[in-house]
Amino acid sequence: MITIIGSGKVGGEVALFSALKRLDDQILLLDVVDGLPQGEAMDLNHMLSEQGIDVEVKGSNNFADMKDSKIVVVVAGSGRKPGMTRMDLLKINANVVKSVVENIKKYTNESMIIPVTNPLDPMAYVTYKVSGFDRSRVFGMGGMLDLSRFKQFIHEATGYSRDSIRALVIGEHGENMLPLTRFSSVSGIPLSSFLSKEKLDELVQNTKQVAAKVIELKGATVHAPGNAISAMVESVVKDRKQIIPVATYLDGEYGHSDVTIGVPAIIGKNGVEKIIELELDDEEKNVFDEGVKSVKDAISGIEI
Ligand code: 2OP
Repeated sequence: MITIIGSGKVGGEVALFSALKRLDDQILLLDVVDGLPQGEAMDLNHMLSEQGIDVEVKGSNNFADMKDSKIVVVVAGSGRKPGMTRMDLLKINANVVKSVVENIKKYTNESMIIPVTNPLDPMAYVTYKVSGFDRSRVFGMGGMLDLSRFKQFIHEATGYSRDSIRALVIGEHGENMLPLTRFSSVSGIPLSSFLSKEKLDELVQNTKQVAAKVIELKGATVHAPGNAISAMVESVVKDRKQIIPVATYLDGEYGHSDVTIGVPAIIGKNGVEKIIELELDDEEKNVFDEGVKSVKDAISGIEI
């Protein structure tokens, strides 16, 4: 069973993608709001029925229902409103995430947790610490979404097929995000073969800022995060061993410890199976380290 805690727009979208991709026979939507997960589940089941897909979606307000979960996705908490940074949500969401994770710890056995609530990196830290799970079982979704956006900008700038584009974004899922032009390509051909340094800098800036633009225009980001989360779930349940940037706990990697931030990792049936350490140049390392500092500052302000 895949459990999604938080049945708002992103939670519903994760359930939709997971069901259409048949990632498990059972999907559980949990929420504290009575009726919301039940209504969302009914709507999804009606769609699945017509599609002929035998995945059952259940909606519930009872945390005990998640006891057989392999993976728990946490999207509970307040979303970013127009004009807000992700960090503005720190105080509001830390308590929500703490109480949700205490429930996961209480009711599940050996599950993996994918935190998504913002600010993502500090919330992934809270999730890791409160759960007490091995670090391989806690990995937040941020970089996968950021790289979807970077890919789209590369596609728009080159006109080349999205299918040929590989992109990597690591670091903080926030103001110090690090889109890595050196580690992105079109079919393995470096981006610098197609685009000038000025253009690449523009794509990096756009990648960092575009979520705020979407939120300003439609109030929330929904489809891209829903898809990114389901891609991570898929890599686990199908043991695909994809290299995905995830917010995971560092214990010396990239020269940092006791912090949770986006790094590329092999994601398979055991969760984070290996963290990949890239040789960052000075400029990249500066941005990464700024991200670590920002996350550590945030963590120091939360009581765990
Ligand atoms: C996003 O990047 C708001 O963190 C969320 O879409």
